Amino acid sequence: MSLFDHHVENEMRQELLGENAFLLRGFARLAETELLAELARVIRQSPFRNMITPSGRRMSVAMTNCGELGWVSDRAGYRYASTDPQNGLRWLSMPPAFFQLAVNAARSAGFSDFMPDACLINRYEVGTKLSLHQDKDEKDFGQPIVSVSLGLPAVFLFGGLKRTDKTRRIQLLHGDVVVWGGASRLHYHGILPLKPGHHELLGDYRINLTFRKAG
Ligand code: SIN
Ligand code: FE2
Repeated sequence: MSLFDHHVENEMRQELLGENAFLLRGFARLAETELLAELARVIRQSPFRNMITPSGRRMSVAMTNCGELGWVSDRAGYRYASTDPQNGLRWLSMPPAFFQLAVNAARSAGFSDFMPDACLINRYEVGTKLSLHQDKDEKDFGQPIVSVSLGLPAVFLFGGLKRTDKTRRIQLLHGDVVVWGGASRLHYHGILPLKPGHHELLGDYRINLTFRKAG
C-alpha cells in the first residue's frame, strides 16, 4: 500500500485555505523517518547557511537545497542555481522519498502533473521569522508550491495577491503539508517568529521543505 492510498483510505483531514490552496494535516507523518534520514544526507554535502539578501542583509532563516535546482540569494539577487555556491558541487539530487511525497500531496490537492525540480530547505530557530513574500523566481506559475512542515510548530500567514491583503493565520504542525497553486500561486505568505519549544525529533528547530518546479 502506498503512502497516498493510506491517506485516501483514512479520509485525511484536508482544509481549504483559499482558492486552490489546501492544508493537508499530517500528510508527511508516515514518511517522517525517511525524510529526516534523507535530510541528514543532504546537509552533510550542503550544510545550512544564512544567505545574504540583495540589499546586504543576512537572512535569519538558514537554508540549503536539493534537486536539480536550488534557490540562492546573494548581492547579485535571488535566483535558482544548479550548484551550491558554497562548495561548487551540484545540489544532491532530490531523494525519491521527497519527490514522491511532494507529487502525492500535489495530486491530493488536485494538481496531477506536478514535477518538482527544486527543494528549498529552510531551518528556523526560536525567534526566526520569514516576512511576507511571493514565490516568483520560478519560470512556470502553472505549477503549484508544496510546503512540508517538520519539527516545532509555526504560524503560517497566507494572504492575497497584494502584500496589504488580509492574511489568514494557520498553525502548522510537524507533518503538515500546504499546497497552493492556480489562482493562489502568487499569494503572499510568511512565517511568524518561532515560539520556544522542543520537538522530540527536531529539538529546537522547525524545518520546512518547499517543493517547486523552478526551471
Ligand atoms: C517559504 O515560504 O519559503 C517557507 C514557508 C514555510 O516555512 O512554511
Ligand atoms: Fe515562500
